[in-house]
Amino acid sequence: MEKPSRRNVLVAGGTLGAVGALGGVTSPAGAGMLWTWSPEGSVAGAGAGADPRQVWDAEADELVGSLLDRGVVPQVNKLLRTWTKNGQPLPAGLPADLREFMERARQMPSWADQSKLATAVNFNEKRGLYLGVTYGFASGMMSTVIPREARAVYYSKGGADMKDRITKTAKLGYDIGTDDAYKPDGSMIVTCVKTRLAHAGVRNLLPKSPAWSKVADEEIPISQADMMVTWHSLPTTVMQNLIKWKIPIPAAESEAFLHSWQLAAHMLGIKDEYIPKSWSEANSQAAQVLTPILAPTPEGIKLADMLLNLGSFLDGGLLTKPILGSLTRYVLGDEIANWLKIRKDPFWDSVFEIAWEPFIAVREGLLSLERAPGILQKVYWAFDEILRLGALLVLSEGDFPISIEIPVANNPN
Ligand code: HEM
Repeated sequence: MEKPSRRNVLVAGGTLGAVGALGGVTSPAGAGMLWTWSPEGSVAGAGAGADPRQVWDAEADELVGSLLDRGVVPQVNKLLRTWTKNGQPLPAGLPADLREFMERARQMPSWADQSKLATAVNFNEKRGLYLGVTYGFASGMMSTVIPREARAVYYSKGGADMKDRITKTAKLGYDIGTDDAYKPDGSMIVTCVKTRLAHAGVRNLLPKSPAWSKVADEEIPISQADMMVTWHSLPTTVMQNLIKWKIPIPAAESEAFLHSWQLAAHMLGIKDEYIPKSWSEANSQAAQVLTPILAPTPEGIKLADMLLNLGSFLDGGLLTKPILGSLTRYVLGDEIANWLKIRKDPFWDSVFEIAWEPFIAVREGLLSLERAPGILQKVYWAFDEILRLGALLVLSEGDFPISIEIPVANNPN
């Protein structure tokens, strides 16, 4: 029998996929998640019908597997550090197969709509402050209770240096919000293509991690379904929160924000047939694939604690940690906060309940501070600081010197 190698594990994954698609929802890799969402609701409008829990990114995965086998990844990463703008030619010296792939992968799909992207810029500018908080403390925190993501992040190379990883991930949140995100001077296409390659690296490497294999409920990480789950923890969750907080958002801006994320999904290698075409499709897909799979894991609990300590540089965590904990409890609810072992804080928990929505209303000019609950006058500054901290995470002109790279190893710890 042929010796199992990275490559034929991936190929076997493809075969398994066909069986899984025929066999319904009982395959082990699909444990815990059901996928019956119709491709008619996708940006493609139709699809081959393959079960996305059994589809990865065949072309990128095989290519990066070969780059790893050939030992050229460190050199590729070095060359790609100089590739930072969408319109920039690829650096000289890349292996021919990689260059050929990247030239195709960097092309925008035919359905990209420049006028929607221009509207998205308005939205990001107007709503940047709220986006920071929701990306950080709705999406970021939620990612720690997405078991497959938490485990993959924890046991991959990035898990060894969370600060570096958060900076790199925040780069995507920053890039998508810039004026020229998808234009030649922007960086979103570069970030997506590099992330697509990094994910392909993870798919090749994690199956070799004994620690990951012991706890994982799938043989190869980051399937198309897994990617959509994470995607929903981003734009879908963000928009749901902005709506819950009664932030006025014109329909065209809401649609434009969705469009910028549909494009991100495409550029990250998610197939069009799995990308929802509208918010109502997104919400229904998320209700099926995201909400039911949320659960605590030891890895996620540790990652959440690292996120809660993000404000420590301001005050050693004395005040920021309980405040961010209460924000998480407010945004994601008691059950998830308890899973993450976030301590209850009687003062800040009730302050969020009573004063967060009025705070937004005051900021939006919909309510005068005098008519808001009295407590808001005392905590207005703290809420404003939270917005700023969130903004720092994704909007700070953040100098992002670190390039997203293809990993060559797993977390050694
Ligand atoms: C890497 C974004 C889905 C696991 C990255 C990076 C970004 C990113 C920006 C580069 C940061 C870095 O290198 O540290 C996204 C987005 C997703 C998505 C926007 C969906 C829309 C997923 C899923 C998983 C996952 C579903 C796992 C189930 C990882 C891992 C790394 C990574 C393990 C590698 C870090 C390393 O180098 O060790 N992702 N991701 N991602 N992502 Fe994702």
